Order: sequence, then C-alpha cells, then structure tokens
Amino acid sequence: MGGHALLILLSVASLALLPGATPLQPSQAWSLFKLRQLLGDPPVLGTWHNYTDFCYGGDYKTASAFVECYEDSVTQLHIMGDPGAGARPLPATFSIDAFFTTLSRLPDLKVLTLTNLGLWGPLPGKISRLQKLEIVNVSSNYLYGELPRGLSQLGSLQTLVADHNMLGGKLPGWLKDMPLLAVLSLRNNMLQGTLPESLKDMLSLRSLVLASNNLSGNLPDLKNLQVIDMANNALGPKFPRLGRKVASVVLAGNKFSDGLPADMLASCYLLERLDVSGNRFVGPFPAALLSLPSMEYLSIAGNRFTGRLSGNASCGENLRFVDLSSNLLTGSLPGCLLAAPGKSVLFSANCLSTAGDDSQSQHPSPFCRNQALAVGIVPEQGHKKSGAKAGVVAGIVLVGALVVSAAVVFVVRKASAPKARPARRLVENASSAYPSNLLADARYISQTVKLGALGIPAYRSFSLVELEAATDNFQVSSLMGQDAHGQMYRGRLSNGTPVTIRSLKVNKSQSFTRHIEMISKLRHRHLVSALGHCFQYNLDDSTVTHLYLVFEYVHNGNLRGRISQGTEGRRLSPAGPSVPYTRWR
Ligand SMILES: *[C@@H]1O[C@H](CO)[C@@H](O)[C@H](O)[C@H]1NC(C)=O
Ligand SMILES: *[C@@H]1O[C@H](CO)[C@@H](O)[C@H](O)[C@H]1NC(C)=O
Ligand SMILES: *[C@@H]1O[C@H](CO)[C@@H](O)[C@H](O)[C@H]1NC(C)=O
Ligand SMILES: *[C@@H]1O[C@H](CO)[C@@H](O)[C@H](O)[C@H]1NC(C)=O
Repeated sequence: MGGHALLILLSVASLALLPGATPLQPSQAWSLFKLRQLLGDPPVLGTWHNYTDFCYGGDYKTASAFVECYEDSVTQLHIMGDPGAGARPLPATFSIDAFFTTLSRLPDLKVLTLTNLGLWGPLPGKISRLQKLEIVNVSSNYLYGELPRGLSQLGSLQTLVADHNMLGGKLPGWLKDMPLLAVLSLRNNMLQGTLPESLKDMLSLRSLVLASNNLSGNLPDLKNLQVIDMANNALGPKFPRLGRKVASVVLAGNKFSDGLPADMLASCYLLERLDVSGNRFVGPFPAALLSLPSMEYLSIAGNRFTGRLSGNASCGENLRFVDLSSNLLTGSLPGCLLAAPGKSVLFSANCLSTAGDDSQSQHPSPFCRNQALAVGIVPEQGHKKSGAKAGVVAGIVLVGALVVSAAVVFVVRKASAPKARPARRLVENASSAYPSNLLADARYISQTVKLGALGIPAYRSFSLVELEAATDNFQVSSLMGQDAHGQMYRGRLSNGTPVTIRSLKVNKSQSFTRHIEMISKLRHRHLVSALGHCFQYNLDDSTVTHLYLVFEYVHNGNLRGRISQGTEGRRLSPAGPSVPYTRWR
C-alpha cells in the first residue's frame, strides 16, 4: 500500500461537497434573504425560496447565482446580474453601507462575486469585517470614490477585481500591506495620478490590470509581475522595468516615448504578448522581439520605430500575430512573417519593400527617412550601407505634420482553441463515486476534528514567493517525488520550520470551488499538520492553475514515509480505501 496519503486525503476532503451535510444556520439564511431584498429582488435571485436549503444545492442554484457552504456556514456567494440587461443603478433608497453590514453577517465568506447588479456608492471600509475573504469580484457596478483603507486589513485577500466601475483617486500605497494579493484588476475606472512606488514591494502580486483609467507618469519597478495591462492611460515616458518572468505586457494607448529597452526584453523568454501600439515610441525596433521563444502577439503599431528589417530575420515558432503598421521601418519584411499560414501580419504605412504584397501599402523610403529626422532620430545604421548616409544629417528638424495614425488598440483575444478559456461554471455537482467505507471514514474524521486537538500550528495562506524561497525556487534538489498530479518538495520556511510542499495541478475542467472547499476541510486536518495553502494563477484569466499544500515535515512520523515512498510510477486510485486512516484511529 503506501503511496500518496495526501491524494487520498484530498479525495476525502472533496467529500465536503457531498449533499446531506448540516443545513445553513438560520441567521445566515436570513442574511441571504435580506441581501436579496436590499438588491430589490433582482430576477437572478428568483429561485431563492423560503424553504431553500442553501447548503444542500438543488434547484435554487443557477449558473449566475449560488451559494457554497462549509458545514453550516456560507463560504461563497455569487450573484451575477445579466450583463445584457444593462443594469441600472439601484434606486436612491439603496444603501451600500446597509448591504455590506448584512454581508458581514456571513463571517466565513471566502469568495464573493457581485457583478452587474447596479450597486452604487463608495465601497464601504467595513468590508474589512469579512476577514476570510480570498477572492472578490465586484465588476460592472457603479462603485465610486477611493478604495477604502479597510481593504488593507484583509490579510487573506488574493484576488480583487472591480473592473467597469467609477472608482477614483490615486491607487493607494497601502496595497502593499496585503501580503497575499496576487491579482488586482481595476480596468475601466477613473483612477488618476501616478502609481505608488510601493507596488514594487508587493512580492505576491502577479497580475496588475489598470487599463482604461486616467493614470499618468512613469510606472514603478514591476519586476515581480507576470501580467501587466495599462492600456489607455496617460502613462510614460519611460518604459517600465520588467522581470524575467513577465508573460504579458500591454501598454497600448499611452504616452511612452523613449525607446524599447532591447536588452531587457531579450531576456524575457516567457513573454507571450507585448502591445505597445499607439504610443510615441521612437528609436530602433528590436527585431529580436520577433524571435523570443514564447512570443505570440506583438504589436508596435502607431509609433515612430525606425530600423532596417532584414529578410532573413528569424521568428519564434509561437508567433501568431504581428502588427508593425504605421512606423518608420525600412528594408524588407522578414520571410518568416510572409510565408505563414495561420499567422496574422500587418505592416502597412511603413517604408518596407514588400515582395509582392501590395495590399498593405507602403510609403516611399524617403518618407521614413525624413520623418525619422523630423523627430530627431538617427535611423539605425543597418548591415547594409544604403541607409547609413542619412544618419549624418541628424539635427535638421523638419517640422512636418506627422501622419502617425491614431491609436490602434487591439483587444484581440487569443485565438488558439486549446488556450481559449472554458466557460467557467462554478456550480459543482458533488460526486457520488466514492465507496461507502470511505464516506464512513470521512464522517469519522470530521468527528475527531470536532473533538479538537491541541498544539497545531496555525493554518494560513502562503504566497508563492514564500514557497519559492522555502524550496530555493523549487530546485530539483528539493524534489522528493512526483506523480501524474504534481510534485512533492522538501523545504524550509523563513522561520526555520521544515516543511513538505505538495504541488497539485488544477485541471481547468475542475471547478475552482472544489479546491476552496477542499481547503476548508484541510484547515482542520491537524492530523497531518497542514500548515497552509497557496494558489498559483493562470496568466490570462486569473483562474487557479496550481494548488500548493504546505505540511509540517514530520521526521519520524508515518506521514513523511507515506508521502515520499513509492512515488515512482505508482498510480493511486482516488478511492483507495484504507491507507491514510491507520494513523488517525
Ligand atoms: C416567505 O415567508 C414570509 C413569511 O414567513 C412570507 O411573507 C413571504 O411571502 C415568503 N416568501 C416567499 C418567496 O415564499
Ligand atoms: C468577474 O466577473 C465578471 C462578470 O461576471 C466576469 O466576466 C469576470 O470574468 C470575473 N473576473 C474574474 C477574475 O473572475
Ligand atoms: C485626467 O487627469 C488629468 C490630470 O492628471 C486631468 O486634467 C484630466 O481632466 C483627467 N481626465 C479625465 C477624463 O478625467
Ligand atoms: C542575413 O543575411 C545577411 C547576409 O545576407 C547576413 O549578414 C546576416 O547575418 C543574416 N542574418 C541572419 C539573422 O541570418
């Protein structure tokens, strides 16, 4: 036997989703009805009835409104109004303060979605009463005012999404006080001013989306970030400092005007998307961007990039979309861009010799030379000599009207099918595929849990940075074993505690709720000394891709033995009945 006790544990943990558990506390049911009333009985909650047992599942759950419980308490509340109906603000009698007061009577809430409901008012500071919040989405409402300071007290908050509201003021510096915040998205609001320098201290932050606001000035150091979307602001002139792990950078429609830092970008080997279109960039276009190994989407359209492209330049094999339009490029289009079925390549309004493709019309080459001189750029002295002479004349300033086209902002979503985001349905059907002896054991476990045990280290959420530090960036030397579901690492936390870290791939087809509920259960798994968990997010859509579970490293206990032994090629049936319980009885 042996094998992965943890996997079995996880399977047991997911039994939390089985119906027939404790009914919801009456006071919480009352709060849910009160919330419905405060929202003016929206159609989306039409399935809530007096006799609804919210923790049971059943007919009241729809894809756009549902509740998840752990035991008799609400842990998730999702109410998503119909975006098509064009939600109006709720009537003048609506009080967002009263709404959040009622909400705070659901103290175990971890995941909260309130979208397209017409909520209006400033986000109340008393949101801090919901101490367990991990994921919040309040997009597409009419929230205004500044982000409340109370948010900084939400020590477990990992994702905050408030796109399409009217939030204003500056992005507050106290965001750095939220140790686990990994995803912050405030697209299409009314934020102003410069971004706080303290953003560089947010070690957990992975995705920062502030597109379509009114932000200005240079960006702070963004070296920890993987996803950056700052489109349509007034940011610039300096290109920000990026880290090597960056995957997507969208700076379209701003006021960046210095050059692209070719050296820094050349080391961004995970960069998939770079969109700097519609700015005022000048200077040479680093053609090496085309050959970055991960690059899929590159747009430099509508700038004043110069340089002589070489027909034999190479392209990365993932490149799908390239837009070079409306710059001052000369030379010939790289062959790897031309002969490319399934690739979309735009290059009109440059001075390229286009080898037969007349559909994307070009300026005569003196145009680019003159324009380049007009903005004081010395055209890059290419390998070939012909362009070199013009450079000598730098300094002549032609005050010609620049015909740089208006900002072209591409919001093309990734087209490749396997990467397309599956419709995310959070409604989960509890599986009934577990054998009954397992169920019996699960019940036994939850009773022992209720008896309580002493001396358990506090359970908490970890940041990916902490886990990286603990395992020396998940070094091979820390690897204890692996199987089809993921890896097991040995490590040491910064306070010296030795730990084992189980990494589990989260299948996109599995719902996220399942994992949240699993974790609810694990919180009580003192018998295996679970210290905490950590999520890793998908770069595109902020869904969870990996779940890390952190356990105390048990020196002579069975746990370690069970975890580390027999890892090679051994497959564990999720319903393996008896193994893990021997130690618990
Ligand atoms: C719920 O019960 C109250 C009284 O207990 C009643 O006034 C109300 O109409 C009921 N609502 C629904 C939706 O059945
Ligand atoms: C937030 O809610 C909106 C509207 O329901 C949805 O489109 C969006 O994907 C959600 N964002 C996240 C990160 O869950
Ligand atoms: C954007 O901010 C600037 C000041 O930084 C202000 O003058 C301008 O009116 C703002 N624009 C909008 C649309 O709010
Ligand atoms: C392209 O060809 C020229 C000569 O025709 C050569 O000097 C240059 O190194 C080549 N570049 C690449 C990237 O192969």
